[in-house]
Order: sequence, then structure tokens, then C-alpha cells
Amino acid sequence: MEPDDDAPHPPPRAAPGAGDGPRSVTLASAIDLDGFRAACRRLWAEQVEPGRVAWHAADDAEGDLFEAGAAEPATASTEAPPVRAPAAFMPLCESVILHRDPGRFGLLYRLLWRLQTEPGLRHDALDADWVAAQLLAQAVHRDMHKMKAFVRFRTLEQGGGEEPLHVAWFEPEHHIVEATAPFFSRRFTAMRWAILTPERSVRWDGERLAFGPGARRDQAPPADAGEALWLTYYRSIFNPARLKLAMMQKEMPRKYWANLPEAALIDPLAAGAAERSTAMVERDAAEPARRIPVRPQPTAPDHAPTPQGEAPRSLPALREALERCRECPIGEHATQAVPGEGPQHAKLMFVGEQPGDQEDLQGRPFVGPAGQLFARALAALGIDRRDTYISNAVKHFKFELRGKRRIHKTPAQEEAAACLHWLESEIALVDPGALVALGATAARQLMGTPIAVTRERGRWLRRADGRRVLITLHPSALLRMEPEHQEAAWAAWLADLRQATATLAPPSGDGL
Ligand code: URA
Repeated sequence: MEPDDDAPHPPPRAAPGAGDGPRSVTLASAIDLDGFRAACRRLWAEQVEPGRVAWHAADDAEGDLFEAGAAEPATASTEAPPVRAPAAFMPLCESVILHRDPGRFGLLYRLLWRLQTEPGLRHDALDADWVAAQLLAQAVHRDMHKMKAFVRFRTLEQGGGEEPLHVAWFEPEHHIVEATAPFFSRRFTAMRWAILTPERSVRWDGERLAFGPGARRDQAPPADAGEALWLTYYRSIFNPARLKLAMMQKEMPRKYWANLPEAALIDPLAAGAAERSTAMVERDAAEPARRIPVRPQPTAPDHAPTPQGEAPRSLPALREALERCRECPIGEHATQAVPGEGPQHAKLMFVGEQPGDQEDLQGRPFVGPAGQLFARALAALGIDRRDTYISNAVKHFKFELRGKRRIHKTPAQEEAAACLHWLESEIALVDPGALVALGATAARQLMGTPIAVTRERGRWLRRADGRRVLITLHPSALLRMEPEHQEAAWAAWLADLRQATATLAPPSGDGL
């Protein structure tokens, strides 16, 4: 099929010898796009009108096995003009062909036929054939989206030093396994996995995708410990104030729940949601933002006289001087400055962006929702928060008021720059063996240049002072993600952070 413009073409001329009888086309499979295209070219060349063609796919259950009529192939006519189609038609075919509707091939061929003389029909929002094809394509896209969102792998230990195999069961509505599998091989490249469905199965061995026949649900493995971890995570990200059951069911229709471990939590969590939501609202109202007055004079002898003065000589001195900082406007509105916390000589320092609402009220870094996710990651990696120093690139909470709520605002570059010397003083005083930049603001602050976090994540960079900085996402980035991406994002984030754990390992002794 050749690309086309909107210019009308002369009506097709009947080819000599095309005949008027019915024609039957059997494609090699339900998603045989190449076969479909070849058949279209042949049928068009012979000027076989759409109404005369009965389409079948070898593995389509709906095919009429007793269909009468001449079978292909037939001789191509040299009389017919080349078949042309607008650029949008091929992607439409690629999607529509994956639909389960047995009429899809007939619809597409009819559209192709009509497009030869009515090239503008694709702009006709009321054209029944064009609209029908769009609806089929949308249904396929939705099904692919659901598969990407709701496949849950379960881990099968192989033993004998072999890598575990991750197996999932899924029941798609359409013929989408082949089209969706590359998404999983990109997403889970390092894993060996298989997705079983009633119609097709797909396996990834780390290098290649292999497709096979369908499977039975009981061939997928039962729940495992990894699933228990996922349930804990799901519980933790479940925000009662955001619960909209109708919306959840639209996004995660009940028919998929059987395969989703977290779905078992929805009813109990939903039952408690109204109560927890009310508690959340009341708690917000009960804790208005208040300013903690700035103390005018430092008290300790080693305190820096002003924020701009000489670098503080101890962490307590730094904390006290920091509280008086007004080098940028943020400090005017925050409740208090939030210094880093942790042991004076921690081996590992985490750096976030800036305190959030809870941190501002409590005066401690990473204690709000992002902090809770961060704490969970540390726990999963066996890191004791108290062994690390946890700080932020900017030390005051920047927000805008929406009603009673204080909504986080990203600090401007000048604000971060004004705050840099506090972080540098903390680094100099703690002298960590390595740092972890959580998100772009921290990465930029630590490296002195913008860092593309999505590209550099999981890598160690070296600062001008020789210190190593591991780049990764900020926990809020995970909290903001669509639910279907959170599981994979969580695993990838842990993988990034795991690289920092070696920094905390005690130095290896001489074995005595
Ligand atoms: N986000 C941060 O970057 N730091 C905190 O302390 C809390 C949330």
C-alpha cells in the first residue's frame, strides 16, 4: 500500500476475469498483518469488491469453516491502479487486526477499498466504517494498557544456581500478546520471565522473546514472598483521601482482580477509607502552620555569627546558624529550618530536595509521605537510617497556600544556590565516604551542574572534591507515578539504592 494524499482517485476499473463469485481468504494467524496486506493487494489488483470476500484466520475460532467460494490465490490484474492509503491507515490496521472481532479484516479491506475513491473519509467523524475501526483500535490499546498495568509476576526459584523464573498469568481480551511482549522485555530485561494467557504464551530468556501456545491458569505459580512485599507496598501507597472506587474499577476492572494480589486489599482498605480520610482532614486542620520564632543571638561559642559568615565548625553550630538564615525568601514563610540529621561521621549521606509539610512542622528531614517510602526502601535494603546522615539541598520548605493546604513548590535555582553552602558545610563536617542524590535538585546541588537523573540514575558520579555521588530518583517521583508503573519503579529504585549499601559495610578485617 502506498501513502496517499487527499486527492480523489478515479474509481477502480473492473479487472478482466475478476469474476463475481465469493472469495475466501485464510490468513496464517489472527494477527497475520503481512498476510492481510498481501491479500489486500491481490484482491485490489483483481478488483474484488469487499462484499465478496470472506476473511478467516487460521486460529480464529469464529471463522466459518464451511464457507463456500473460490479460494485464493488468484491472478493479479495489471489493469488496477496501485493501492494507496493515507499514512494513518497502516498504524490503524496494526491495531485493529489485534481485535477479537471476526469482522475486522472485512472492515479494514472495505475501508481500504473506499479510501481509493474517498481519500477524505478519514476526516469524516461520522463515517460508520472509519469510526468503527477507530473504536476497535481504541479497545486494543486499552487492552494492551491493562496488560502492561496488571501483569504480576510470581517468582519460581529454579535451584542449582539457576536464576529464578518469573511467571505471570493474564487474560487479555484481544490478540495482544505479541504486540505487548516487547514492553515487558524492555522493562524486565534482566529477569527471566514468562506470561501465560489462554491463547498465547510468551517467554523471555534475557535475550529473545519466544511465543508458544496458550496455557491454563493452574499452570501459573501461586503467590510467593515477593508478592507479600508488593502487598505491603500497595498498602503503603494507598491514600484514602484519593480513593474513588468507581474510578479504580474503571482503571482496574474487577475482571482483572483475580490475578492481582493487591486487589484482595481493595475492599478492606476501601471500607476504612472514609474513616481514615476524615481523620486526615481533621489532622490537617488541627495543625496550622506556625512559625517558630528566630532566635536573635547564637549561644554556643563555635557558632557562626551570621549565615553568611565563616563556615560553622560543628553540626550544632550549623543548626543554630541555619535557623537564622534569610539568604533567600523561603525562610520567611517556613515554620523552621530543617537541618540534616544523623551521626557526625556517617559513612553515607542521603540528600533530598527540600523539607515537605511534615518535615517543616517536625523540623526533621524525610518524615512525611516521601520519607515513609524512603524508610521502607532503607528497611528493604537492611540499612538502619540512624547509621546514615540525611539532609536536603534546600533547608526551608517552599510552598504555596491552597486553602488550608500548603502545596510543595520546587525551589528556584537561585534559592538552591543560596542554600548550597549549608549543604557543603554539612558534607565537610560529616565527611561521608559517599553521597546519594535523591532527585534532580539534589543531584544538581551536589554536582554543581544539571544532571539528567533518568539517564544517570544508578550510576556513581564524582564531585570535584573527589567524593562519589550515586544518582537516583526522589521518593516523591515514585509516589506520583501511575499505579501500574509503581511496582517496576520500586524494584528499579531499590536496585539503584542497593549500590550504596556497600559503603556502610564494615571494613573487611584480616580474618582473625
Ligand atoms: N522531600 C525531600 O526532598 N526532603 C524531605 O526531607 C522530605 C521530602
